[in-house]
Amino acid sequence: MPLPIYTNGNSLQQIKSIIGIAAGKGGVGKSTITVQLALTLQNLGYSVGIMDADLYGPSIRKMLPENKAPQQNGNSIEPAMCGGIKMISMAYFRKTQEATIIRAPIANNFIANFIHNVQWGALDYLLIDFPPGTGDIQLTLSQQARLTCALIVTTPQEIALQDVRKSIILFEQVQVPILGIVENMSYYQQSPQLEKVHIFGKGGGGRLATEVGVPMIAQIPLEPSLCHCGDNGKSIFDNDNPNNQQTTELFLKLATNFIAHVETLKLQQAQGLQSFKLQWQNL
Ligand SMILES: Nc1ncnc2c1ncn2[C@@H]1O[C@H](COP(=O)(O)OP(=O)(O)OP(=O)(O)O)[C@@H](O)[C@H]1O
Ligand SMILES: [Mg+2]
Repeated sequence: MPLPIYTNGNSLQQIKSIIGIAAGKGGVGKSTITVQLALTLQNLGYSVGIMDADLYGPSIRKMLPENKAPQQNGNSIEPAMCGGIKMISMAYFRKTQEATIIRAPIANNFIANFIHNVQWGALDYLLIDFPPGTGDIQLTLSQQARLTCALIVTTPQEIALQDVRKSIILFEQVQVPILGIVENMSYYQQSPQLEKVHIFGKGGGGRLATEVGVPMIAQIPLEPSLCHCGDNGKSIFDNDNPNNQQTTELFLKLATNFIAHVETLKLQQAQGLQSFKLQWQNL
C-alpha cells in the first residue's frame, strides 16, 4: 500500500486500554509476548488489536497471519483481521522480502498514521509492540498513543536489564506508568521431572521489578513451542501445538495478572494518582 498522508484522526478514542509492550533491548521476546498475550486475551473473550510499531523489523505479520488484509480509504486505514484480532504493521506497506529503508521523517509519518488514522473501532485492549531502543519512534508513541501503561519485557540477563532500564527511564520521563515486568526466557526445563536450567541467569526480572517498584507479571520459560508458534503463525491454543497445556496455562496466568493490574492502575489513575512510581506502593 502507498503511504497515506497523515491527518489528525481520533481513531484511538474507543479503545479502553492501550498498552505498550517494550524492552529497549532487542530479541527478548516483545513480539512473541505481544502476539500470544493478544491471543490469550481474545480467548478470554476480550476484543484486541495489535499495532506492530517495529517499522524496521516488523515480525507480527509472520507470527499472526491475516485472513483479511488492511484496506486504505484515502487517509483512513482499516486494520487487517487476523482471526478476530485487528492488526496493523509496516509489513503491509512493503513487499515480503523488502527491507524498510526510510529516513526518520518518513518513519515518523508512518507512526503518526498508525496512531491517528487506523480505524480500530471499539476495543478492550490495543497492544503496541514497541521497536527496540529509546529513539524518536518510541518517544512519539509514548507521547501520542494515549498509553494507559507500558508492560516491560526482559530476560534475566544483566546485559538485557541494562537496556531495559533505559526504556523504563523513557516512560518515566513522559509520565507513562509501568504496569510491571514480564521475565521471558526465565529458564529451560525439559520436563517437569528435570531441574530448571537458568540459561540467562536467575532472578534478573524480579530484581528489576523490586528496583523500579513495580510488580512481576509473569515468568515465561524458554519453550520450543513458542518458537514454533512464532515461525508458523500459530496460536498457543492450537491443538497441534506441542506442549500446549503448560504454555497456555502460563499465558492464561499472565493474561489474568495483566488484566487485574491494568484495572487496578486505571482505578488509581481515576483517583488522581498519576505518579510513575507511586502506582504500586499500597498494594
Ligand atoms: N519464551 C520463549 N521460548 C522460546 N523462544 C522464544 C521465547 N520468547 C521468544 N522466543 C524466540 O526468540 C526470538 C526473539 O523473539 P521476538 O522476536 O519475540 O523478540 P523481540 O523482542 O520482539 O525482538 P526484536 O527486538 O527483534 O523485535 C524469536 O525467534 C522467538 O521465537
Ligand atoms: Mg519484535
